[in-house]
Amino acid sequence: MSAFKIEAATPLDARSLAALSIEVWLDTYATEGISDSFAAHVLETYTPEAFAGALADRNKYLLVARNDVGLMGYVLLNLKVDPVSPGSGTAEFETLYVRRHHQRLGLGRRLFDNALKLAAAAGQEKLFLTVYEKNDRAIAFYEALGMRHEGRWTFEFEGGAVPNLIMVRETDM
Ligand SMILES: CC(C)(COP(=O)(O)OP(=O)(O)OC[C@H]1O[C@@H](n2cnc3c(N)ncnc32)[C@H](O)[C@@H]1OP(=O)(O)O)[C@@H](O)C(=O)NCCC(=O)NCCS
Repeated sequence: MSAFKIEAATPLDARSLAALSIEVWLDTYATEGISDSFAAHVLETYTPEAFAGALADRNKYLLVARNDVGLMGYVLLNLKVDPVSPGSGTAEFETLYVRRHHQRLGLGRRLFDNALKLAAAAGQEKLFLTVYEKNDRAIAFYEALGMRHEGRWTFEFEGGAVPNLIMVRETDM
């Protein structure tokens, strides 16, 4: 693997973050084909403007894994969200994406650990996330990183209800 570093994203990354998100989202969820509603969702959600907004939001932290060519993955933390369950807390791993080309090389773990440290430094005692209950790969990853099952949550998507798990972990601050 080429050398990589983990660092804070900058506004110059907004376009690459949008492209990477669309790639990983479709790769993960559009396994049967790209429906029009899936295409609409990614093109409306993952825009350079949305990432520029996240970068300007003082409650959000965005870290990227970068090599000499460009982005390999990223993590987006949101430290001010509504709780999704009584025990979830109010700090969320909003997104953690590693491109398929760079998976199983420890990038996800490095992004996760750095984000956990940032959250602890910001005074957060725990972090939660929601994950599609059939996303076995991500659930195995989060379990390996010490996240525990906290309950269930339903994601409303395109008029349907998508069952998600809630997972939480202390930041060890
Ligand atoms: C989930 C994801 C972030 C993991 O990133 P990664 O860089 O591949 O993970 P790492 O290499 O750091 O793995 C760390 C540990 O997690 C576990 N793990 C990671 N991927 C796994 C898999 N596919 N199956 C089982 N365990 C897995 C292993 O214990 C691994 O340690 P090991 O490689 O020494 O055995 C990545 O697969 C991804 O982006 N998936 C698509 C998007 C997604 O589903 N994101 C989460 C949505 S909530």
